[in-house]
Amino acid sequence: MINRTLIKEEKVKVRDQHLASYIIRGGNRLSGDVNISGSKNAALGIISAAMLLDGACKIENVPDVADINVMVEICKHLGAKIKRDSEGSLYIDPCSISTWEATHDKVRSIRGSYYLLGALLGRFKKSTIYMPGGCNFGTRPIDQHMKGFEALGAHVNIEYGKIHVEAEKLKGEHVFLDVVSVGATVNIMIAAAKAEGVTVIENAAREPHIVDVANFLNTMGANIRGAGTDVIRVSGVPVLEADCSYSIIPDQIEAGTYMLAAALTRGQITVHGVIPRHMEPLTAKLEEMGALVEVGDESICVSVENGKQLQAASYKTMPYPGFPTDLQPQTTVLLCTANGSSRMTESVWDNRFQYIDDLKTMGADILISGKLAIIEGGHKLTGAHVTARDLRAGAALVLAGLYAEGMTEVDDISKIERGYENFISKMRSLGADITRIEN
Ligand code: EPU
Repeated sequence: MINRTLIKEEKVKVRDQHLASYIIRGGNRLSGDVNISGSKNAALGIISAAMLLDGACKIENVPDVADINVMVEICKHLGAKIKRDSEGSLYIDPCSISTWEATHDKVRSIRGSYYLLGALLGRFKKSTIYMPGGCNFGTRPIDQHMKGFEALGAHVNIEYGKIHVEAEKLKGEHVFLDVVSVGATVNIMIAAAKAEGVTVIENAAREPHIVDVANFLNTMGANIRGAGTDVIRVSGVPVLEADCSYSIIPDQIEAGTYMLAAALTRGQITVHGVIPRHMEPLTAKLEEMGALVEVGDESICVSVENGKQLQAASYKTMPYPGFPTDLQPQTTVLLCTANGSSRMTESVWDNRFQYIDDLKTMGADILISGKLAIIEGGHKLTGAHVTARDLRAGAALVLAGLYAEGMTEVDDISKIERGYENFISKMRSLGADITRIEN
């Protein structure tokens, strides 16, 4: 029976989250130290991959952000036992999973829920999930995921908003991806971990969180080689015994957002607990623009000398190790403050410039031509009332507000809180004048 009171309460909760805003008074120079949380996108893959295990595991450094909490709720709904401790670790026991159908309403609200297709397919040889949701950057096809599952022997059927995949048995095969896709690479890798024989994924994506999901599965008994290169070899194993613990890598995009905040406010921020190699696509460009970047073993300090002008630059987003699309909006804000004309080419997503209208409301001078944005730097930004249209666009508008003269109100901040842990308290500890209000 439908519990209408519960549905109403949930709707009110969601509406209230959407109504919350950040109020930012710009002009403060940010400085200090910030610890970087575990990677959201790695955690989404790893929690899903844990649904494949034949025993319990402990996952450390799991960020406490909305998307992860939704993923945990969906997995509990499947029957998995999951507990979080005060240190940010999750204890997951998937042995009690009783269904291959991930049809909790929230499956539709996040993108990472598509990893349950691969995990449940690996576990039960069949899986049904709602079409996943997530940020809207234009079309977000999943044909490459399906291509991989079909290569492993599964039939795919999409009906009534649900995807169903089913195989008599999963058998290792060669899969050549037509586009470099993070999601497809991870999903196929997860499904293949318990398939019979060897699966070779060619033209695989190389993002750090793909390596993290592979390392997690290997710690649990899988045999995956080559993650981090464009050819991944998965030798299927019959059982993933688990009973181990694994710690998630730091979030490359969270770290990059704070590094950009340092350069933008002409401040000095040290991000701690990072893997500097993952940050190279950004550190190289920040140095090119004139920022000072000091790299330690697990920390990076970004600063701008007093009075120094940052120079315009050209950026193009690419799959790793190229410049990450998830730092594109935040970087565009920095380019608004540089000396001269900069270019930002978005080559991963069709429609990831929606926030630029909000930046223009704040005084930015940006011309969009298809996938290219031409940014004329040096115009004054002033506070305005703007809306977070997706996670990274929302973070970019907060950065713009930190730089702008006067007050900025960013609405719909639930989008930002999907992926940044303790955003307000971390920003405040660096000297940002930012307040969260419930409207
Ligand atoms: N694509 C296809 N077919 C597919 C899959 C993808 O054509 O079957 C295309 C997409 O349209 C896009 C490109 O391939 O043009 C890359 O898509 P990808 O599959 O790599 O993206 P994703 O797995 O859906 C993940 C991150 C995104 C991040 C992208 C690119 C997660 C949960 N999401 O998405 O992160 O932008 O990779 O790096 O890992 C974020 O964290 O804010 C975020 C949006």
